[in-house]
Amino acid sequence: MRRFHLQPGAALRGRVCVPGDKSVSHRAIMLSAIASGRSRITGFLESADCLATLHAFEAMGVIFARDGEALEVDGVGREGLQAPVGPLDLGNSGTSMRLMSGLMAGQRFDSRLVGDASLSRRPMARVIEPLTRMGARIEGQDGGRAPLAIQGGQPLKGIDYTPPVASAQIKSCVLLAGLYADGVTRVTEPGISRDHTERMLSAFGVSVEREARTLSIAGGQALQAADVAVPADLSSAAFFIVGATIAESSAIVLPGVGINPTRRGVLDILKRMGADIRLHDERIQAGEPVADIEVRSASLKGVDIGGDEVELAIDEFPAIFIAAACAEGTTRLTGAAELRVKESDRIAVMADGLSRLGVDVRVAEDGLTIVGTATGAAFGGARIESHDDHRIAMAFAMAALRASAPIEIDDCDFVDTSFPGFVTLAGEAGLQIRASEVSR
Ligand code: S3P
Repeated sequence: MRRFHLQPGAALRGRVCVPGDKSVSHRAIMLSAIASGRSRITGFLESADCLATLHAFEAMGVIFARDGEALEVDGVGREGLQAPVGPLDLGNSGTSMRLMSGLMAGQRFDSRLVGDASLSRRPMARVIEPLTRMGARIEGQDGGRAPLAIQGGQPLKGIDYTPPVASAQIKSCVLLAGLYADGVTRVTEPGISRDHTERMLSAFGVSVEREARTLSIAGGQALQAADVAVPADLSSAAFFIVGATIAESSAIVLPGVGINPTRRGVLDILKRMGADIRLHDERIQAGEPVADIEVRSASLKGVDIGGDEVELAIDEFPAIFIAAACAEGTTRLTGAAELRVKESDRIAVMADGLSRLGVDVRVAEDGLTIVGTATGAAFGGARIESHDDHRIAMAFAMAALRASAPIEIDDCDFVDTSFPGFVTLAGEAGLQIRASEVSR
């Protein structure tokens, strides 16, 4: 087991180049694999999650090759995937399993999607249900958990679907199945969720229409190879944005980070709290808005967070909770029950870690209330459990910047699912972090 050891204090400074966006990298592999022709992906995130997606498509006959910094993908076309010999192991990755269940439902061959212990606990009924309505045959374990057994050769038909929760993964799953369905598939979003799938489908030549909150895709469309320049991941940048905000005398620049309006909730929430965040050189890169993000230390105040803002910052709450603990007054998050079904129960696990560090925190079914300490040390020292959740580990690492004593974080191996090189990059920026291997 990997343990992080953090010494208290220090500032973050300099240029921090965080790796490629996880959501965009997954989609780039999936769409290039079923496109006709050779696609080039630059900035691909070589994390365990995205490599799980890549290996799954390799197992279905897609050839990937390195060309310097780029990943070249020889797409096999919409009908060109081959039956894999064994199960497709998607590790810890919910995005791989939910999006690929939509793609696999449309294939001529059977497939079995498996994952690690954490992924096998996460709800899959949310994709099984709409896919079954489209005509797919999918069997999950007790109440809709992985492994998923998907029977091939089932004719799919377009449906009109409103998911029970705002989720890009459910939306994307249904749209991808819609590519293989007869007629038009419509998804009406109950709230805004990230739109990387729609943007990238357009880049690969597929027409996806939007009218208000309803997306329509006509079945049978072919994908043409495209080049994808993956932006730096705002979800990874978020740890440094919070770190530089809470640590005195900090000033960092994060170049080329994705600031897609359906993803940038963390920037808006932190700004509302008083953070000094400036966007420079805003531009469009392969259909996605990106900018260089400059962050300086700032005093924060507590805010209320809820409604549509929640999904726009869904992966950044572990980092936002650390900022809230360093703010003057109280921060209240509501309407965020989805956090309980991420890689860990992020409400319970963050509340546990914050309490161990001496923070005044109250738990609700759908959120948290945190009373911050605006000046001086906001955290004591403690050993924290990350519960095999990458974002929990990285969020608590940043807490050390405002701690009065060392912090140790257990079970940090999973940081590699989204952010390989985190320890080195954080150390270069000024965080006093070291990793060790310890036996359980
Ligand atoms: C993702 C969507 C989000 C997010 C996940 C990545 C995606 O999940 O939490 O880390 O790439 O589509 P939901 O869509 O289920 O909220």
